[in-house]
Amino acid sequence: MLSRAFRHSALAASLSKTIPGVSTTAALPHLKHGILFNRAKANSCNILRTFSSSKLFNVQQHFNVRANPVDGNQVQVQWDANTESLFQHVWLRDHCRCPSCYHPQTRQRLVDTFAIPVDIKPRSVQANEGGLTVVWDNDEHKSVYEWAWLKNHSYNPPLKGKVELHSPKPVLWDASIANAPPVVQYEEVMTTKAGLAKWLDNIEVYGFSFVDGVPVSLEATEKLARHICFIRESHYSPGLWDFTSDLAHADTAYTDLALKAHTDTTYFSDPVGLQMFHKLEFDGTGGESLFVDGFKVAQSLKEQHPKAYDTLSTLKIPTHSAGDEKVMIVPTPREQSILNHLSDGTLYQIRYNNDDRSTLSNLTASQVDEFYDALRKWNDELTSDRNQYWESLEPGRVVVFDNWRVLHGRASFTGHRRLCGAYLNRDDFKSRVRSIKYSPEEKSTLL
Ligand SMILES: [Fe+2]
Ligand SMILES: [Zn+2]
Repeated sequence: MLSRAFRHSALAASLSKTIPGVSTTAALPHLKHGILFNRAKANSCNILRTFSSSKLFNVQQHFNVRANPVDGNQVQVQWDANTESLFQHVWLRDHCRCPSCYHPQTRQRLVDTFAIPVDIKPRSVQANEGGLTVVWDNDEHKSVYEWAWLKNHSYNPPLKGKVELHSPKPVLWDASIANAPPVVQYEEVMTTKAGLAKWLDNIEVYGFSFVDGVPVSLEATEKLARHICFIRESHYSPGLWDFTSDLAHADTAYTDLALKAHTDTTYFSDPVGLQMFHKLEFDGTGGESLFVDGFKVAQSLKEQHPKAYDTLSTLKIPTHSAGDEKVMIVPTPREQSILNHLSDGTLYQIRYNNDDRSTLSNLTASQVDEFYDALRKWNDELTSDRNQYWESLEPGRVVVFDNWRVLHGRASFTGHRRLCGAYLNRDDFKSRVRSIKYSPEEKSTLL
């Protein structure tokens, strides 16, 4: 089965409903409030549009679209009987997609935004097979906007079904995921595009994935990490890290102590996106790895203790890393929330390592009480058996997890335990996902 990463149905379905045939009004009759469209006088023609340049556009359909300049500063596009969009002249001119205004290969703006006359107006507006065509009055420059692109970028109003660069919806999990954790095979990942897509999709959907059958070596682990993207250096390592409990760095990770569930690098302005672990050698007892779905814990907290959830989402907490002699890292801004949200309220990032918290001198007295109360409730949920997934991570089984979502920890251990792994940037991981998910045509439509 093809992975979710390869399913274009949402994009295809959304666009297929929208583009196909076109009818146009040449004249501009009776405009009211600048936007009214006069159907009676519309001089319409239907054009059957066949899209064939990519798998996204290979559906043949037709429907009516009307484009009108209006006597304000906008162009109106009527997608169907119930749907229309308005585009301001300056917006259209600034977003011209012709090769002189937008580099087709670099996908960068070439048009000089500041040379566009403030009162720019179209000389003519037409709807045709290639898209909305506008000839500008000041210099007769011709702009063509593909229908798929134009509809997907409608902002007045934003249209339902708009395809955005959203990740797949996360599937939240608890300790029962131990029965069927997401796993892919090393060979499959390294040699097939479908295997790679499935691996990346697991990480996006579940926040982690095992890779089984990995040769038990630093080289194979590094090759696997670099199959996603370059490795992020840090004060711990110039690349892949390889550690035992020798306190090579002044951090509890380099001991045999238990580590409670946490995310790494809460003290970076941009915490690491993914982490990879591979236990190469072990001849003792204990040391199992712990994983907790932070999004699931946050959801439970929100349901049971909305005030605590709100506190952890709004109060800003200072963090640091300063164990090594030459290191004193704090983030910018200095304080950060534990639960971080997009403007639409979606939780996108957890920054939580109670051990890395700095002095809480930025809070007021009542905020201190609120904070400890919320933190206790968070900790109760985080440490509940129902949420903790323990895994022994035998050599040959690599785990990769989303450090913005999945908290990790480990049991204390005795004996010799050698673990290697890597940090990867979130932006570069996501870029890799998109680069295999979207064709060049889809990229153009989405950007
Ligand atoms: Fe850690
Ligand atoms: Zn242009």
